[in-house]
Amino acid sequence: MKQEYKIGNLKLRNRVFLAPMAEMNDIAFRLLCKNAGCGLTYTGMINPRTEQKLILDDKPAIQLFCVNDVGVEKFIKKYDKKASLFDFNLGCPSKVARRIGFGAFMNHRFDDIEKILIAMRRATKKPITIKLRKTKNVWKILKIAEKYCDAVCIHPRTIQQGYSGLPDVEFALRLKKKIKIPVIYSGNVNEKNSEELLKKFDFVITGRAALGNPGIFAKLTGKKTNFDFSGYLKLALKYKLYFSQIKLQAMNFTKAKNNAAELREKLVKCKTLNEIKKVMSV
Ligand SMILES: Cc1cc2nc3c(=O)[nH]c(=O)nc-3n(C[C@H](O)[C@H](O)[C@H](O)COP(=O)(O)O)c2cc1C
Repeated sequence: MKQEYKIGNLKLRNRVFLAPMAEMNDIAFRLLCKNAGCGLTYTGMINPRTEQKLILDDKPAIQLFCVNDVGVEKFIKKYDKKASLFDFNLGCPSKVARRIGFGAFMNHRFDDIEKILIAMRRATKKPITIKLRKTKNVWKILKIAEKYCDAVCIHPRTIQQGYSGLPDVEFALRLKKKIKIPVIYSGNVNEKNSEELLKKFDFVITGRAALGNPGIFAKLTGKKTNFDFSGYLKLALKYKLYFSQIKLQAMNFTKAKNNAAELREKLVKCKTLNEIKKVMSV
């Protein structure tokens, strides 16, 4: 019998997801990952007060970042039908996050966190999740999260670590033991360790290993289709993505090539789409 995976009332086809990545997770890239078999795609973090038009044809998990609940309900109601679930970012370690006080830098503001989760819960019947880092406040946040959330995502690196150094899997396991709702693990998930990690956690999300390499989801789920840069470009043109975005992704897609450094050097100088196509041989 085929196994059923669920977060709240959301059925998922497998347990390997694309991590939220600001700037990287455009609609073309997310769709390519989904076509490759990815169980759930995340948008990068989005402020609920954004006026920007969102393209959500992959029915993603929409990740929010904010410092209070203003506009949260309105935003979720607007996009409710187009999202699989809504996630709240408590993990961003960037300088901007520090300056404004969002992401990992609001991990001590328990009342605000609770108010935001209440607003999210009120706005939708879709699952709600929260993404955390390794901080001393995690245990208190879990108590709040358990009241409103359907799953918790943990990236067990500290704020100081940012995205480097080893993620603390033991910390994530301790968290997993503390709560009853599913745990989504993030941190260096790749082809080699995903199977092992899935024995320990309910779901995994892969971030940098998927950049320029959406085929990773095919490898992990056994699907076959076109996941190279030409596949990305086709979708990017369909969705009329900006030249700068296409160039950024072209950089990512050099990763698999032998002459990656040389290609990236050429890409930096590209000023037209045709130049990019030539460098990427498409
Ligand atoms: C370019 C980039 C952008 C990211 N943007 C976000 C984001 O918007 N929201 C978030 O929760 N995490 C973000 N992350 C963190 C990833 O979701 C993930 O937790 C982290 O990269 C660890 O996973 P990895 O080692 O598989 O890359 C970002 C990471 C990268 C590399």
